[in-house]
Amino acid sequence: MTGNEQAAGVWDRIAAAGSRSLTDLFTAEPDRLSRMVLEFAGLRFDWSKTHLDAAAIELFCTLAADMDFSAARNALFAGDPVNVSEGRAAEHGAERGQGSPDAVARAGAAHERMRALIDAIEADALGPVRHILHIGIGGSALGPELLVDALGRDSDRYDVAIVSNVDGAALLQALAGFDPQATLIVVASKTFSTAETLLNARSALAWMEAAGVDDPYGQLIALTAAPDKAIEFGIDETRILPFSESVGGRYSLWSTIGFPAALALGWDAFAALLKGAGAMDRHFRLAPLSANAPVLAAFADLYYARARGAETRAVFAYDERLRLLPSYLQQLEMESNGKSVTALGVPIAGPTAPIVWGGVGTDAQHAVFQLLHQGSHLVPVEFIAVVEPGHTLDPEHHRQLLINCFAQGAALMAGRGADDPARAYAGDRPSSTILLERLDAATLGALLAFYEHRTFTFAALLGLNPFDQFGVELGKSIARDIAEGEGARFDASTEALMARALGSGA
Ligand code: F6P
Repeated sequence: MTGNEQAAGVWDRIAAAGSRSLTDLFTAEPDRLSRMVLEFAGLRFDWSKTHLDAAAIELFCTLAADMDFSAARNALFAGDPVNVSEGRAAEHGAERGQGSPDAVARAGAAHERMRALIDAIEADALGPVRHILHIGIGGSALGPELLVDALGRDSDRYDVAIVSNVDGAALLQALAGFDPQATLIVVASKTFSTAETLLNARSALAWMEAAGVDDPYGQLIALTAAPDKAIEFGIDETRILPFSESVGGRYSLWSTIGFPAALALGWDAFAALLKGAGAMDRHFRLAPLSANAPVLAAFADLYYARARGAETRAVFAYDERLRLLPSYLQQLEMESNGKSVTALGVPIAGPTAPIVWGGVGTDAQHAVFQLLHQGSHLVPVEFIAVVEPGHTLDPEHHRQLLINCFAQGAALMAGRGADDPARAYAGDRPSSTILLERLDAATLGALLAFYEHRTFTFAALLGLNPFDQFGVELGKSIARDIAEGEGARFDASTEALMARALGSGA
């Protein structure tokens, strides 16, 4: 029997194991809190309000053995070609010192080069830089944007604007208030061939030219795994910060793609980010599966997606500084695991990645929580909160924020009966809570690495390759056909839209 066939039998037993209510589980398992709450690296992971019982966790550990999870994890850190469809390793761990010696050395050299360029910019070698216009999309924007937004609110080192959308309104808004003479344009693109990014870069250069900047290309920096293409674009080699092709876009904020964050927050903060992620890497590699935060979280994700039919997972940051986390996680998880065949090309029956959605608490309570408390969907909810406030206003603000966060988890679990069905809450709705002692570069690094490893574990236990994303290609290719007007014919609806909005020549 193959590992996959053995695994098939385990799923039925997993569904049966996790069938008790949350309240019953807390009564039946007095050690539940100590087993399902893990604390390290300034983070506290509480998975106790999920339906995973001791038997289900044991079965998931059996599933992990059947799927050869330890070998997959070792292969990831050894730099083996775990991205089988593209014949590449996945070297994001090496960016924080956890990987094959060669990959770690290459990443270290790229970081040194980035640091030297930052030193030069700080010494005004590129002129008096005050504004950073970072242009990139997907993984080349979401990570840096999250870092700068979360950690750079009090920093007055540089103004940073991150532009991704090809809609010119996005670029115009970013440029408002920027002085072209004092702006550095940073073009971030792993492939250096993403149409939206290159068009935005050209328009930003045109903005500089129109404002009379002598040498706009002299104020241009590239972050890329395709330096040749950046040179072709006209960027001087000395201002190209390369990174490895084996670092995936959505895993790339640790590489030179993190440049605007390193510049805006300072090198020490960027180094602390890598260190925090490295601490999570070590935990993921070494902790036993049943006490391993990313693994336990992946068990719960798999349980709700595969055994309980939950199609989504909601993530609510009870901290304004983490408001961009849900969109970062959408790319990380949905682009990684939104697949319907295994790494070997075998179709997978049933759901894979949950649809990740969410928002910020307390705002979301007044918008979408009705469905979570009384709707008919099963939605595992994840709360993220920080003990230390990120501001110096009346501490009552932060107290209220945390009280609300904890109240929601308690309410989802406990529910409340009522004679009037419209006023009754069924309860027994799962949630998990991640509490950070404080939000700083190290804890944010550990948090983001936690999500990466959770995504990897989810993939490994289903046999998916989380490191390719061929699903995004078809739309790009059709857009190119339309743009190039090669006489390609489409369905009647698309043809009519093109004729109405683009004219005959597209
Ligand atoms: O189209 C999807 C994607 O390839 C993402 O995986 C990636 O993060 C994004 O586009 C941007 O790609 P690039 O960094 O090559 O411009």
